[in-house]
Amino acid sequence: MAKKIIITIDGWSSAGKSTLAKQLARELGYVYVDSGAMYRAVTLYFLRNHIDWTDKTEVQNALKDIQLDFRFNEMSGSSEIHLNDENVEYLIRDLVIAEKVSEIASIKEVRAFAVTQQHKLGTKKGIVMDGRDIGTVVFPHAELKIFMVADSAVRVERRFKEMYKKKPNVTIEEIRDNIQMRDYMDSHREISPLKKADDAIELDNTSLTEDEQFQKALSWAKERIKSQ
Ligand code: C5P
Repeated sequence: MAKKIIITIDGWSSAGKSTLAKQLARELGYVYVDSGAMYRAVTLYFLRNHIDWTDKTEVQNALKDIQLDFRFNEMSGSSEIHLNDENVEYLIRDLVIAEKVSEIASIKEVRAFAVTQQHKLGTKKGIVMDGRDIGTVVFPHAELKIFMVADSAVRVERRFKEMYKKKPNVTIEEIRDNIQMRDYMDSHREISPLKKADDAIELDNTSLTEDEQFQKALSWAKERIKSQ
């Protein structure tokens, strides 16, 4: 049987990371892990429980009360995040969460909490994980690292179309501001900033269809699996 590998997909907000990661996982029979969902779920918990995230002790105590796990949903064909047994997959996509998540994801204790769980999920390999620091920090020895980029106007348009279906009163300006803010904060933070790993393959999908990008990535994955 072919050896399993770890595939990491990092890149800018709304560059299409999760679409590609899900397709690869499905095709290869691997587990898909959306690391951004973990930071979003922590943000939801902090907002709901009025946690003062500038207070280190309060953050540490709050993290002790958070349990995150991914459960596969047969209906959607994808794994969904649960926060203390509640399925929050839909709730965490709200713009209210997107507005705070980068600030919360820059906190050292929050990152340590998420990375510990990400490591556990990768122990058996056979995993596709997307995020910002997966190829640089979480799995620096991953067999295949992809760094996704796309023109910012294209990314804004894609995210707008996705959000509009859920919230028709959302404006394109709100989406643009949020993406720009997260891109800036994620790439300028002190701990684990978003950057391309030296050994990552850059995938610019500005003018690629979903299938074209999938076929490219799949061929890289097959090559790496074969060379194990
Ligand atoms: O991937 P997604 O856009 O859902 O991620 C939401 C936010 O979570 C990012 O903007 C970033 O602030 C944070 N994040 C992170 N490290 C990761 C994944 C996400 O800091 N590995």
